[in-house]
Amino acid sequence: MSSNESLANLLKEERRFAPPAELAAAANVTAEAYAEAKEDRLAFWAKQARRLSWATEPTETLDWSNPPFAKWFADGELNVAYNCVDRHVEAGHGDRVAIHFEGEPGDSRAITYAELKDEVSKAANALTELGVQKGDRVAVYLPMIPEAAVAMLACARIGAAHSVVFGGFSAEAVASRVQDADAKLIITADGGYRRGKPTALKPAIDEAVLSCPTVEHVLVVRRTGQDTAWDDSKDVWWHEITDRQSTEHTPQPMNAEHPLFILYTSGTTGKPKGILHTTGGYLTQASYTHHAVFDLKPETDVYWCTADIGWVTGHSYIVYGPLANGATQVMYEGTPDTPHQGRFWEIIQKYGVTLLYTAPTAIRTFMKWGDDIPAKFDLSSLRILGSVGEPINPEAWIWYREHIGGDRTPIVDTWWQTETGAMMISPLPGVTAAKPGSAQTPLPGIAATVVDDEGHEVPNGGGGYLILTEPWPSMLRTIWGDDQRYLDTYWSRFGAGHDAAETDWRYFAGDGAKKDEDGDLWLLGRVDDVMLVSGHNISTTEVESALVSHPKVAEAAVVGATDATTGQAIAAFVILRGTAHDDAELVTDLRNHVAKVLGPIAKPKMIKVVSELPKTRSGKIMRRLLRDIAEGRAVGDTTTLADSTVMDLIQSQLPAAG
Ligand code: WT7
Repeated sequence: MSSNESLANLLKEERRFAPPAELAAAANVTAEAYAEAKEDRLAFWAKQARRLSWATEPTETLDWSNPPFAKWFADGELNVAYNCVDRHVEAGHGDRVAIHFEGEPGDSRAITYAELKDEVSKAANALTELGVQKGDRVAVYLPMIPEAAVAMLACARIGAAHSVVFGGFSAEAVASRVQDADAKLIITADGGYRRGKPTALKPAIDEAVLSCPTVEHVLVVRRTGQDTAWDDSKDVWWHEITDRQSTEHTPQPMNAEHPLFILYTSGTTGKPKGILHTTGGYLTQASYTHHAVFDLKPETDVYWCTADIGWVTGHSYIVYGPLANGATQVMYEGTPDTPHQGRFWEIIQKYGVTLLYTAPTAIRTFMKWGDDIPAKFDLSSLRILGSVGEPINPEAWIWYREHIGGDRTPIVDTWWQTETGAMMISPLPGVTAAKPGSAQTPLPGIAATVVDDEGHEVPNGGGGYLILTEPWPSMLRTIWGDDQRYLDTYWSRFGAGHDAAETDWRYFAGDGAKKDEDGDLWLLGRVDDVMLVSGHNISTTEVESALVSHPKVAEAAVVGATDATTGQAIAAFVILRGTAHDDAELVTDLRNHVAKVLGPIAKPKMIKVVSELPKTRSGKIMRRLLRDIAEGRAVGDTTTLADSTVMDLIQSQLPAAG
């Protein structure tokens, strides 16, 4: 299906789902908020910043005097860990459960806010003992266990920026990120449980540190108890060092613009981008959006976000937003089908989860597994369902509402990015009449629209590129160590240039979008060459580079082909080196090679050996044509090819069935 066809289908969607009256009547945020923010956007955000406890209250809201380098609440000071932990204990909520941890093997652990305060304080003292100071970087490579949140909060408490690297990434991927950030310490674990068995994590770190001279220590959480190689000069057990620390630690106030974390995201070209987020504005928007979009009632709700802490969703909606709001949440270590395909629904039943946040790729998998699986569990506690990571197709939206939400819960389809730090476009559960498949409306205080190729705003019914027209508190501040790339990637496409008026700076999100006749926004996926596989951004260039690093591969072109389950699947076309042969093992070999270089998530689903690749005269691969082949369609317009016979040649080399 071409994007035009899928768009036409999307816009035929006419079902509407009004908020349940009871929810609307008691909602944290009402339609009033849109009017208030429209009246005075900066006053609106200044008010939301007061959700936090500041050591020094800010008197400034936005400093946009050097666009696009924003400063929010620049003369304010606060400590993020104090806001996420201590203040709830001081307010008398120390006995409230912060985290209901559910390990994959079935072990569980409830951690109250008072216990979390002790854990974070001990970890902060341990980091200090290991020589980590304010301004340093700490890499985190952990499974989904409470220590991941504790480690992040401990870094925030002492003002060291964390750089969390997804536990599924390879040693090389970790090493390049650790090197880029000059991290001083890596926090990891012996392993974690996945698909019913312990999976080692430390060997990847042992390999990575060989090429990371800045790393002084590796702090290792014992999770699985598996045999682990040990280097006494570097390695330190988490439990040994934290056990001997005091539970007292005084959080130091940080300037609102102090770096909180770096998180790497795939780019279209070259190395991953280190997205930098800072303290005050980030926490303000993470906290406000979690309160508004999930309508969180901290006394009664049980919230569960199924993302991994290695992605931005885990940062903003497992750690910072929910904890800043004093939420009780579930954290689950493993996969949804271990030990059975009803595991998620069993967890919801066990803890009485009221707010669920997951991804379309998971929802489509559940649909495939069958309606009878969730039907066996009591899901009546649920009151709001969230979706994030990629466009949710109306079929999946309706299935989610009917089979998980009992045909009663609002669905919030939340559009945002690693770069935006927090949600930007989403329905409000007590306000918006929801349209299946559309993220609909910029949140209060957020300005977004759709423009055409020339940067002109399109009318209702028109399509083009999504842009953000005003700075927002949780925006990225730059790409770590590369201000120029920050400018080039996000602000030059539709920005007005250097002598532009302050208000003319426009952020290019890289997503295609459409406005429907009501002016509601429909997100259509990436317009560049980043693939979205199971909700994860993977760059075509990175996979191509990985393939070409194999001794048998001369050249490679990679495209994301529409896939019913994972959103996009990676399809690769490779040209072999002269002496190499296309034998049975080759494809397996290449897939494993990519997994080794980039991690299993980047493994191509399909690899085809060809003798030529379609290129323009300037040598740019025409991925569009390869996507036609990968998706089993007639090949489109080939007139800009350097050699117009190439596509016929490629097709003659592929089996007829594709
Ligand atoms: C890209 C950002 C946001 C956290 C997870 C991904 C796509 C995200 C939606 C949505 C349509 C969406 C966009 C975006 N995306 N949410 N609700 N509807 N598309 O973070 O890895 O930085 O990816 O994910 O294409 O640009 P990320």
